[in-house]
Amino acid sequence: MQPDPPGADPIESVEVGVELEVPTVRLVAGGDALGRTADGRVVLVEGALPGERVVAEVVEVRPRLLRARTVEVVAGAPERVEPTCPELARGCGGCDLPYAAAADQPSLKAEVVRDALRRIARLDDVEVDPGRPLPAVGYRTTVRAAVREGHAGFRARRSHEVVVVGGCEVAHPTAAELLVDGVFDGAEEVVVRVGARTGERMVVVHPTAAGVSVPADVRVVGTDELRRGRRAWIHEEVAGHRFRISAASFFQARPDGAEALVAAVRRSLDDPAADAEFVDLYGGVGLFSVALDVRAPVLVERSAAAVADARVNLSDRQPRLLKMAVRRWRPTPTDVLVADPARAGLGTEGVAAVAGSGAGRVALVSCDPASLARDVAALGTVGYRATRVELVDLFPQTHHVEAVTTLELVEPDRRQVAV
Ligand SMILES: C[S@@+](CC[C@H](N)C(=O)[O-])C[C@H]1O[C@@H](n2cnc3c(N)ncnc32)[C@H](O)[C@@H]1O
Repeated sequence: MQPDPPGADPIESVEVGVELEVPTVRLVAGGDALGRTADGRVVLVEGALPGERVVAEVVEVRPRLLRARTVEVVAGAPERVEPTCPELARGCGGCDLPYAAAADQPSLKAEVVRDALRRIARLDDVEVDPGRPLPAVGYRTTVRAAVREGHAGFRARRSHEVVVVGGCEVAHPTAAELLVDGVFDGAEEVVVRVGARTGERMVVVHPTAAGVSVPADVRVVGTDELRRGRRAWIHEEVAGHRFRISAASFFQARPDGAEALVAAVRRSLDDPAADAEFVDLYGGVGLFSVALDVRAPVLVERSAAAVADARVNLSDRQPRLLKMAVRRWRPTPTDVLVADPARAGLGTEGVAAVAGSGAGRVALVSCDPASLARDVAALGTVGYRATRVELVDLFPQTHHVEAVTTLELVEPDRRQVAV
């Protein structure tokens, strides 16, 4: 591990607004760079990369931790670039890593994952492959935006203020157009969803779509209508398969990224045979079950909308669709299992479900490095060893990243141990 460099000049007392010169060491989960003051206090610096020296304004003071914001780069890292998005200068906080070259972002994120594995799971021998960069602009097919006075925008960094945008570099062009030209009177939030490969578009508006004005091709639905049982969906194509995606169902935020995730899961599970016993835990609308071409997957998912979509998407297979929370699932024995939980990770109940299935091989899909490390540590207590992590950088220009961890059952006797 790289040692921390000497800290900045000693400081008598620090308060909000003070400017410090800080050497930064590494990127941490959340996208800030970690540095230290000369008296050993940790400073998390927004807008800085590892190995830089920046002048940073303190924005929060805690007993053993400061948060600060870069105001000047004294010595920049080789990965530093000038951001291209004009909305940044207007205060948009939608992207938090635009000052790192897109090609370098996967390896910066891989370092965050390695660090989480070292610190949280106490593992420093797991290979972490940064994966291949995906296009860094025009990619997002699902975009959640806030609304101010009828117009869509994004929150300023660490603020509730909504910056109405005149464009969005990372949104798919058909989504960006809706964000900019759509009128959403009476709304607080809008989720724009588009099928990049089908051309279908939808806006999901909270709390009501009564004041919405968008082009005629766009499906419009309010969250009040969804609560009353209305259904609305679009379709997307991934890996040669067509998926129905309802307004309330989760789907990966870009089809090329979904394909890259499927490919990483396929590698992780060693290309499961069509007749393999296969469990798709937190299965959503069936992305992995469909795209991995397994004949009779068991899919566990608690969202009614997603299970209804999975029924359509898997209509040419013989799936067992279990609409329930993972904690209620009574695990059935299986050869292979993919688990793709929400940001909080598997937790105790997910780990128990994996262990109970006795799967010889598991692909864990994580969207948060700290959850990944916690889950890997917990799975270690029930006999699973992580052998490899492959990143899929679904969200360039932001600190977010997806990771597929391969786990093998090396101690079958331990898998019933309570967690
Ligand atoms: C990250 S998404 C993954 C979905 C799917 N694997 C995909 O790639 O499209 C997580 C899914 O887990 C579901 N979910 C979250 N918590 C759950 C729980 N405790 N039990 C069952 N499903 C859950 C969500 O509704 C969501 O569909």
